[in-house]
Amino acid sequence: MLLSQNALAIRPLNLYPVVYISLLFGILHAVSVSPDESCISFNLTLRNFRLILSWELKNRSIVPTHYALSYTIMSRPAGEMIVEDCINITRSFCDLTDEWDSMTETYVTTVVGIRGNTTLVSCWDRVFPALDTSLEPPEFEIVGFTNHINVIVEFPPVIPKMLVMKNLQTQLSLIIEEKSGSIVKLHRPKIDGNTTGNFTYVIDKLIPNTEYCVSVYLEPKEAEKIRRSPLKCTLLQPGQESEFS
Ligand SMILES: *[C@@H]1O[C@H](CO)[C@@H](O)[C@H](O)[C@H]1NC(C)=O
Ligand SMILES: *[C@@H]1O[C@H](CO)[C@@H](O)[C@H](O)[C@H]1NC(C)=O
Ligand SMILES: *[C@@H]1O[C@H](CO)[C@@H](O)[C@H](O)[C@H]1NC(C)=O
Ligand SMILES: *[C@@H]1O[C@H](CO)[C@@H](O)[C@H](O)[C@H]1NC(C)=O
Ligand SMILES: *[C@@H]1O[C@H](CO)[C@@H](O)[C@H](O)[C@H]1NC(C)=O
Ligand SMILES: *[C@@H]1O[C@H](CO)[C@@H](O)[C@H](O)[C@H]1NC(C)=O
Repeated sequence: MLLSQNALAIRPLNLYPVVYISLLFGILHAVSVSPDESCISFNLTLRNFRLILSWELKNRSIVPTHYALSYTIMSRPAGEMIVEDCINITRSFCDLTDEWDSMTETYVTTVVGIRGNTTLVSCWDRVFPALDTSLEPPEFEIVGFTNHINVIVEFPPVIPKMLVMKNLQTQLSLIIEEKSGSIVKLHRPKIDGNTTGNFTYVIDKLIPNTEYCVSVYLEPKEAEKIRRSPLKCTLLQPGQESEFS
């Protein structure tokens, strides 16, 4: 009893989504399903510069047909936020690119699992983008010339606001890895909040008649593992433009 009172005292906001969503779904008995911290695992991924939160219920024998996602921002007592696009979804992921705007906030995220008109579970956990985001490599192409390679990295039309700091710098470091035989060189093009669309980086002073391979990735913070794109290779031929296909 004491425990649940404490839980209520610490996280009063967290009980609202169940009630609110319950009303929304017209479910009568949902209020009895109280949010549980440990029943879900989240993955936050930056994929094609979209911020995608996916989840799995830890108890595999609970199989909802629908989910509803909501969140609160720990430092901003604005109450429970509902994500329009993720209010009654059959998929177990939600695009939060236009919702979450800070890497350094803690988003207390609740997922309600529904089957038919019954709420099966309500699970929550904290998501801290600065540490929890796994960065997938951007899409890119290469074009080989006699002695240089153009690397074309596909940025989105707008860089998500979460990744852009006030001074237009981004929190992303793009790395272009150049390989020839056993020699590996890293290039760190400057990108900022204005870097949009197809961004071309030229790797020059290369040796003709040589094969070069290129891969790109976004440098992760601290101990996270690097997620490289697959290599794209080109043999530089004198007087001839070669294009990776
Ligand atoms: C949720 O979506 C399902 C179909 O996917 C629909 O049958 C149900 O009525 C929806 N519930 C609400 C509350 O919109
Ligand atoms: C999160 O990622 C790990 C490792 O890539 C994977 O094993 C797990 O199934 C993922 N979980 C979710 C909820 O997507
Ligand atoms: C998983 O969920 C099922 C169905 O609600 C329940 O019977 C079972 O006890 C749960 N298992 C665990 C380990 O919580
Ligand atoms: C749930 O739906 C079933 C039929 O789909 C209906 O008989 C039942 O009354 C509903 N329960 C509630 C609580 O709305
Ligand atoms: C970015 O764009 C804004 C307006 O479009 C411009 O004022 C600013 O100088 C640009 N910043 C950089 C670093 O190019
Ligand atoms: C960017 O490059 C890709 C592939 O090279 C191409 O399909 C796309 O149309 C280009 N986008 C723009 C905005 O030029």
